Amino acid sequence: MTSQTSASEKPSQPGPESLVWDLPTRLFHWLLVVCIAGSWITAEAGFEWTETHFLFGYTSLGLVTFRIIWGFIGPTHARFSSFIRGPAHILNSARALLNRTPSTYTGHNPIGGWSTVLFLAVVGTQATTGLFISDDIFYAGPYNGIVSGATAGDLAGLHHLNFNLLQALVVIHLSAILWYRWGKRTPLIKPMITGKKALADEQLDQAIPHNYLLRAVITGSVVAAAVIALVQFAPPPAPMGFF
Ligand code: HEM
Ligand code: HEM
Repeated sequence: MTSQTSASEKPSQPGPESLVWDLPTRLFHWLLVVCIAGSWITAEAGFEWTETHFLFGYTSLGLVTFRIIWGFIGPTHARFSSFIRGPAHILNSARALLNRTPSTYTGHNPIGGWSTVLFLAVVGTQATTGLFISDDIFYAGPYNGIVSGATAGDLAGLHHLNFNLLQALVVIHLSAILWYRWGKRTPLIKPMITGKKALADEQLDQAIPHNYLLRAVITGSVVAAAVIALVQFAPPPAPMGFF
């Protein structure tokens, strides 16, 4: 199997459906969607939802950490090495984006690959800044006590600003997926749910053999334990509130 995600210039007729996105990558994606939506809703819902906001945030942090590790040890199309490409590939990908020809990439195209990295960086920043900030009244992230009030204020500013960037990225992400579906007649959502794509004959060797579940369960357990430890063993909080 080739280790690279590739596109063919003249694809032959699509064949039977083959596994492209492993289950851990798909679970990562849809759980991240739930956690970002949950973090947003609980941030807007009032202070009594702050602890739930923290839980969604910790889970987002765990998911991003898992995905970064999975980008090195996961199957072909989940690996950074298969979708992080240089400027020439990005330019080709940008040109192809604008025409109405169906996309023939097996995994992420170069722009999709870099947007994956950007998502991981932005969500990672959002969750990490959250650890250090407080609402200045009742609730504080577990590491708020180790930074000065001024630093916590700056990080809270970043938490707010970065969320606007995340929202913009999600809008671009969804617009691109709709453009692929209706403009380029390339359905991407179903493969992100089922894991399967109809590959052309010359791409059949790029299908992944299985879901690498044992590796994912071990990695996921280690990451979950690390996030729980990060929260549980945080230094004692600074006194909060007016009382
Ligand atoms: C990816 C995960 C996260 C997202 C998407 C997110 C999003 C948000 C949003 C949209 C707000 C409201 C900002 C505003 O009022 O303009 C907020 C506030 C807040 N978040 Fe998060 N957050 C995340 C993770 C975390 C984590 C892990 C913690 C702490 C453990 C945290 C702690 C807080 C606190 C304390 C506030 C209130 C800040 C204030 O009142 O100034 N967040 N978050
Ligand atoms: C908070 C919202 C969302 C975030 C943060 C997000 C993030 C991501 C990330 C990081 C990836 C890369 C997957 C990987 O390789 O691990 C991705 C891919 C993808 N996402 Fe989302 N996503 C969001 C919402 C959605 C929604 C609502 C849909 C569907 C309606 C969707 C459909 C897809 C599809 C189809 C791909 C695969 C694109 C391709 O084939 O290259 N996403 N998304």
